[in-house]
Amino acid sequence: MEIFGILMLFVGLVYGTDDVLNLSQGKIKGSIEKSRNGREFRAFQGIPYAKSPIGDLRLQDPEEADSWNGILDATKEKPMCIQKNLFMYQSYNQLLGDEDCLYMNVYTPKIDKKDQKELLPVMVWIPGGGFSSGHGGMSLYGPHYLLDKDVVVASFNYRVGPLGFLSTEDDILPGNYGMKDQVLALKWVKSNIEKFGGDPNKVTIFGESAGGVSVGLHLLSPLSKGLFHKAILESGTPLVRWGVCPPGLAKRRALSLATISGCPEDSEQLAKCLRNMPAELLVNLHYNFFEWKVFPAITFMPVVENCKHKTGFLCKYPLLDFKQESNVPILMGMNSGEGGLIAARVYNEDCEVDPELKNNFDHYISSLLIYKYTTKMSDLPLVSKKIYNRYFTEGNMDNRLDTVKMVSGGIFLQGIFDMAIKLSSPVHYYVYDHTNSMSFNSYFGPCSANLGVTHGDEMISLFFTKGQDQLKGEDLNVSKLMIEIWTNFAITDKITIDGTNNGKEWPLMDSKSMKYLLISSSKPIISKKPFIEEYEFWKGLPLLSAFEKSEEILKTEL
Ligand SMILES: *[C@@H]1O[C@H](CO)[C@@H](O)[C@H](O)[C@H]1NC(C)=O
Ligand SMILES: *[C@@H]1O[C@H](CO)[C@@H](O)[C@H](O)[C@H]1NC(C)=O
Repeated sequence: MEIFGILMLFVGLVYGTDDVLNLSQGKIKGSIEKSRNGREFRAFQGIPYAKSPIGDLRLQDPEEADSWNGILDATKEKPMCIQKNLFMYQSYNQLLGDEDCLYMNVYTPKIDKKDQKELLPVMVWIPGGGFSSGHGGMSLYGPHYLLDKDVVVASFNYRVGPLGFLSTEDDILPGNYGMKDQVLALKWVKSNIEKFGGDPNKVTIFGESAGGVSVGLHLLSPLSKGLFHKAILESGTPLVRWGVCPPGLAKRRALSLATISGCPEDSEQLAKCLRNMPAELLVNLHYNFFEWKVFPAITFMPVVENCKHKTGFLCKYPLLDFKQESNVPILMGMNSGEGGLIAARVYNEDCEVDPELKNNFDHYISSLLIYKYTTKMSDLPLVSKKIYNRYFTEGNMDNRLDTVKMVSGGIFLQGIFDMAIKLSSPVHYYVYDHTNSMSFNSYFGPCSANLGVTHGDEMISLFFTKGQDQLKGEDLNVSKLMIEIWTNFAITDKITIDGTNNGKEWPLMDSKSMKYLLISSSKPIISKKPFIEEYEFWKGLPLLSAFEKSEEILKTEL
């Protein structure tokens, strides 16, 4: 049967159908799909961009993929990288995916080889998921809206959780395997995208949440230089405290993991032991790091590496030492109610706050808002008191939107706004504030009351997820607006508030006037100072005080 199929494909090739592309790795066959407006595009799913990271390649930098004979069937979605998704409150304990997972998906509106002379701008989506979950598959990130426009879209999987980010902070297990997967994926795009009608010299990388952090890290990494030309950061940057592991913590976590898994602590022996362990077990070990419920929600993440080696992805801890390597135009921002991501989880079906948090706010809040590992222990009581007093003036947590606001400020706003200020390249800043009929809050927690425009909700406007209802009315109009803005940013250098050529100019964000685009409806407006009082509050807290001590030691040493 299979041989017959391959023969049929060869017949197709000889007679000039365009189903099959000839890459340097081998031939691939894709499928024809339809965009939202009914335009045909070609989808190629599951192209290997790296060797399968299994056996001796587990917990190692990725290697380029092998080539293949015959025609690779690229018509189906490949498994995501093995994971559990702690953010999905109903299925957080479900094991998903496969360790063999380093695959690329490419979607192009170029149907005929004939019209491939004029190359199209490329948009590469880097998915989020807290560095422990997520994937770039078409079922989740359907490109059907973007492909109404003249862009080539690509997305991919990268390793997550301990398999992607475990680090002993030495040369044996340096970490950042998931980030190096991303670099290799971007190199793959650079070398191959022309075959899909994409312009390797016009690549926009975009991502949300941990994907936004990732995009930001590519701006800081020496390894990513020259692989992209513009960048979009949605709801995450390297300056959020969950974006990069505080120095020292990754090693402590690796040692804890050694203890609970019965592996030796010595890096070399630990690596060997972990490479011989079933992948499922490693994924399960991750959940031992929760202090309460699923918090801290991010435990394995990018780390600072020794950059004496040319393979080092990140050389400095961005919160203390910010160094931008790629100066490309930036579009970035956040949603108005990001904090729903965490807030939704602390309210129950009746929308009442979890009694354990209510009674132990001071104890849990530092791991909930991920400042426990960057703040001096002696500062913790004062910090939690200040936070409580600011957000819960009534003396209780009954107002859910106040909790959302607290989480938004604590783990998103500050790090996102700081990034906008620190970047040396031009920044266009947005706040997405449109309430769609569907919200990710319904996946994050059981309370069905309104918790605002949450983390991820802008993606409802950007991607079609399989099984999702068609967008209607104003939801549809906002989606079309977002598609105009996002693709226009990738295609042209003239940035307008509605993404059209004759639209009103969208001024750059600067630290003085702080102008940004407020997208509360399909008629966006320019506004000023996004949540600036919230930002000032968080900036005023000593959330990096744990590092002061080491500075003092440094001084006495000098
Ligand atoms: C496909 O590409 C390879 C290498 O890039 C080349 O050697 C081969 O001739 C090509 N085959 C076809 C059918 O175009
Ligand atoms: C959406 O846009 C269309 C076309 O501009 C317009 O006719 C329609 O009234 C808009 N719908 C809503 C709900 O605003």
